[in-house]
Amino acid sequence: MMYTGLIEKYRNKLGISKDTKIISLGEGNTPLIKLNNSIKDINKKIDVYIKYEGLNPTGSFKDRGMTMAVTKAVETGSKAIICASTGNTSASAAAYAARAGIKCFVLIPEGKITIGKMSQAMIHGATIMQINGNFDDGMRMVKEVAEKAKVSIVNSINPYRLQGQKTAAFEIIEELGCSPDYHALPVGNAGNISAYWMGYSEYYKDNKTDKKPKMLGYQASGSAPFVSGEIIKNPETIATAIRIGNPQSWDLAQKTKKQSNGWFDSFSDQEIINIQKVLAKEEGIFCEPSSAISLAGVIKDIQNNKIADNSKVVCTLTGHGLKDPDTVIKYHNKNMIKVNPIAQEVKQAILNNM
Ligand code: F0G
Repeated sequence: MMYTGLIEKYRNKLGISKDTKIISLGEGNTPLIKLNNSIKDINKKIDVYIKYEGLNPTGSFKDRGMTMAVTKAVETGSKAIICASTGNTSASAAAYAARAGIKCFVLIPEGKITIGKMSQAMIHGATIMQINGNFDDGMRMVKEVAEKAKVSIVNSINPYRLQGQKTAAFEIIEELGCSPDYHALPVGNAGNISAYWMGYSEYYKDNKTDKKPKMLGYQASGSAPFVSGEIIKNPETIATAIRIGNPQSWDLAQKTKKQSNGWFDSFSDQEIINIQKVLAKEEGIFCEPSSAISLAGVIKDIQNNKIADNSKVVCTLTGHGLKDPDTVIKYHNKNMIKVNPIAQEVKQAILNNM
């Protein structure tokens, strides 16, 4: 049977009626890839899987929530949607609004979203408002304005977003035959970690798994309110997707950590850049910097024995590496050499680099 997106597949778990017109781009159904090379030196019997969410239609996990949010917005007669974004939400909102034939307004922090994400919002025809401020300022504006203007908010404070995003946990349980023992994610607003926990908890209730994972949330050191326990006024990190100091799903994330016996931790920009390279070079998996933080966390927590032997671990890689080519070219350009179009020179370059 043709796959036509996650609402069609999980309609009864999402409360979408038979008559609702679904706005979909075929999101979800992403691969779960077992790591082979990057963890082989760790000498423990631990299986680590990547949930490769960069393979969604707009290149990030946001599409899972956006299909729901836009479907519901259209169903209730909305002619426009709005969001604040560090880039991926705006890319996804712009695409799904285009698909639905409605207007899209996005507020982005000037100079702090990657070129790939910016180009997506542009090509899909969103009205882009660059603000002289960060994501948290944009979010404040969206909440204030949406009360008066006739626009639907499609940030993750829209409950339909998390409903759509929880389906990633369903897919993992269906593929593994049970929940993993640990699930690691990068955390910004903390909507996604909360959505996965909802998904795992629902399938546990439905007896589709006999256990639930510990939820591990990783943040960038300069932008780690869940590690410091307080709002960060001026968050800063190279992982611009998670450059958020005042997470919108604070309470849900704390509940997720407590109920699952999980934890939060943070990593420096250099550690993030290093692990992005490991994934790309040793596994062939290209993700954006913020996504790579999940594996940085897992490797550290395996090494310090926080993750038990004989366990199954899933890391969500939230966004595709092509979202942020600038960072790659800035930090990972060491393997480029210049040669003249002379066979001898090319042959020599091959020999030198075998
Ligand atoms: N990874 C990526 C690639 C993201 O774009 C985001 C959030 C996250 C992780 C964090 O997810 O907020 O649910 O904890 N990006 C939002 C945006 C904020 O505007 O695109 P979260």
